[in-house]
Amino acid sequence: MKTTISEVSKYAGQEVTIGAWLSNKRSSGKIAFLQLRDGTGFMQGVIVKAELGEEKFQEAKALTQETSLYVTGTIVEDTRSSFGYEMQVKDFEIIHEAVDYPITPKEHGTEFLMDHRHLWLRSRKQHAVMKVRNEIIRATYEFFNDNGYTKIDPPILTGASAEGTTELFHTKYFDEDAFLSQSGQLYMEAAAMAFGKVFSFGPTFRAEKSKTRRHLIEFWMIEPEMAFMDHEDSLQVQEQYVSHIVESVLENCKLDLEALGRDTTALEKIKAPFPRISYDKAIDLLKEKGFNDIEWGEDFGAPHETAIAESFDKPVFITNYPAEIKAFYMKPDPDRPEVVLCADLIAPEGYGEIIGGSQRIDDLALMKQRYDEHELSGDAYQWYLQLREYGSVPHSGFGLGLERTVAWLSGVEHVRETIPFPRLLNRLYP
Ligand code: 4AD
Ligand code: MG
Repeated sequence: MKTTISEVSKYAGQEVTIGAWLSNKRSSGKIAFLQLRDGTGFMQGVIVKAELGEEKFQEAKALTQETSLYVTGTIVEDTRSSFGYEMQVKDFEIIHEAVDYPITPKEHGTEFLMDHRHLWLRSRKQHAVMKVRNEIIRATYEFFNDNGYTKIDPPILTGASAEGTTELFHTKYFDEDAFLSQSGQLYMEAAAMAFGKVFSFGPTFRAEKSKTRRHLIEFWMIEPEMAFMDHEDSLQVQEQYVSHIVESVLENCKLDLEALGRDTTALEKIKAPFPRISYDKAIDLLKEKGFNDIEWGEDFGAPHETAIAESFDKPVFITNYPAEIKAFYMKPDPDRPEVVLCADLIAPEGYGEIIGGSQRIDDLALMKQRYDEHELSGDAYQWYLQLREYGSVPHSGFGLGLERTVAWLSGVEHVRETIPFPRLLNRLYP
């Protein structure tokens, strides 16, 4: 019976065959332990010389790292490992011998590992991070599908910017100029007017010259957009959505979180509602914490966000930023037009902003005024104005950065390990 490591619990006491790679091994005179991985999981295979004979035992001892094999044996419960099962190997067959696999169990530098990303993905920790990523994506579809949202796919090639022109990737579109999408938001607003509640999930691009642990050039964003919802309604969706993701990862990625050494007690506290603090209060808090130079009207950097987050053990919404430092489409607070109805959600433990969101301007005249102030070309944005012309309604939305969320939940320091093949300032390989 051919099966996978993820399925072995169904075969306790039975003989099965698994296609696997050898990730590590150790042996003594009479017994060898093979660390096997098959993509679905990690399991130990035990080879006893007395059972397989001298020749096969010597062959096992000579197996090299990342050699591919078919391994046949009996599945037995193993209470010492958290996986809970191991295989008593009866026989194995080499499919392909790997010679001098570059990533050995010793420590390697980050640049070396990044150059070998196509192989590094096989390692236990990297595998765990991708499983957490996958679970967040699964839980995202679950949450929005269960709550009446329609998934809509905005285009990647666009004729205009969504978040300001300084970070745009330019390309030619036959004879026209085009840009890689920074955000699907503007298109999602059109979709919300057609479908009510929508969400997107796709790659976005920022030609940012930032080299920080939170910035990628290509990253994936989940962007929900809701008609007839104001800023407060949107905050509630955000805290419920993030709580659902955290709960799903805790429930379905136990072995992965363990492999990553993630302290889950911090994650268990992440339940809606989340605290909120206005931008004004955040400025006061920062001054109290010794950031004496910060002035009202300045944007927050990573050290500011980290300092604010330290005061809370859940993600915290920083609301109502000055209009000056936010995007053109955000709706001014009717009581105080110098600030906008927006929030950034800051993750705990120094992982930074994971969500940016706002209520959108729904008034045609005000939107036209913003076009002028921001010198937006009438041609490229004509369609977006029309959304305010024909049955405009209050609407809100937000964007969650997948990689920063993966970094937070996995507890990995740098977003470069949270996407299979990261695009960084100085890296397009592999
Ligand atoms: O705050 P941002 O720029 O917001 C938008 O793009 C809005 N249009 C979203 C919306 O309202 N539909 O980006 C949203 C999130 C950030 O909070 C952050 O998590 C992530 O995207 N993000 C990045 N992640 C990795 N690398 C980068 N360079 C990122 N830039 C933004
Ligand atoms: Mg932002």
